[in-house]
Amino acid sequence: MPRLKLAVLVSGKGTNLESLLRASREGRMDADVALVLSNRAEAPAVQVARQAGVRTVVVESAGRSREEHERLVREALDAAAPDLVLLAGYMRILTPAFIRGHQGRLVNIHPSLLPAFPGLEAQQQAHAAGVRVAGCTTHFVTETVDAGPILMQAAVAIPPGATPEEARLRILEAEHRVYPATVQLLAEGRARWDGGKVVFRDLPPTTKEVLLSP
Ligand code: GRF
Repeated sequence: MPRLKLAVLVSGKGTNLESLLRASREGRMDADVALVLSNRAEAPAVQVARQAGVRTVVVESAGRSREEHERLVREALDAAAPDLVLLAGYMRILTPAFIRGHQGRLVNIHPSLLPAFPGLEAQQQAHAAGVRVAGCTTHFVTETVDAGPILMQAAVAIPPGATPEEARLRILEAEHRVYPATVQLLAEGRARWDGGKVVFRDLPPTTKEVLLSP
């Protein structure tokens, strides 16, 4: 089976990027990160990528129009020709044209059990709502933010009295399992985009567990 070529778009710390790099290195994911693209030179994720020896491109969004920035991002992506484009803490809204151009190949991870708590600060929203079960979701990106068809979810318990930071860290830990598992699901052809829906086939029992883990 050919390995998937990944491009990862980042803006922040890069812990999800790290989890993807580790899974690739450790043979848990039949995919390689071929390009990391950041919209901020000072994002710690840029260091994570460089230390891993991955081709890293910074296209500063500050001082550029959305169109100009996205044109440069698109050029860098086209040159790398990835099979999948993964958003991993990428804090820019993509244009509908970009999303349509990457339909079925563009995936995001969101720190809530969607459709609950879309948008910014999802973990804090969950904490403020007092939910006992929180989690994360990977989904194909569509034109409505955080509303594309769901690939995988993992649930985590939020004990009464947990601080917002404790809740965030529990969710982040789940993200680090779910993103590589999602890529593997796609690499094995067990999940695919089909006309705006996700179609699954031949899921092994372990994958079923990741789809909703208590
Ligand atoms: C994660 O919580 C992700 O779900 C959200 O942004 C955060 C990125 O964290 N979209 P990191 O940069 O991967 O550490």
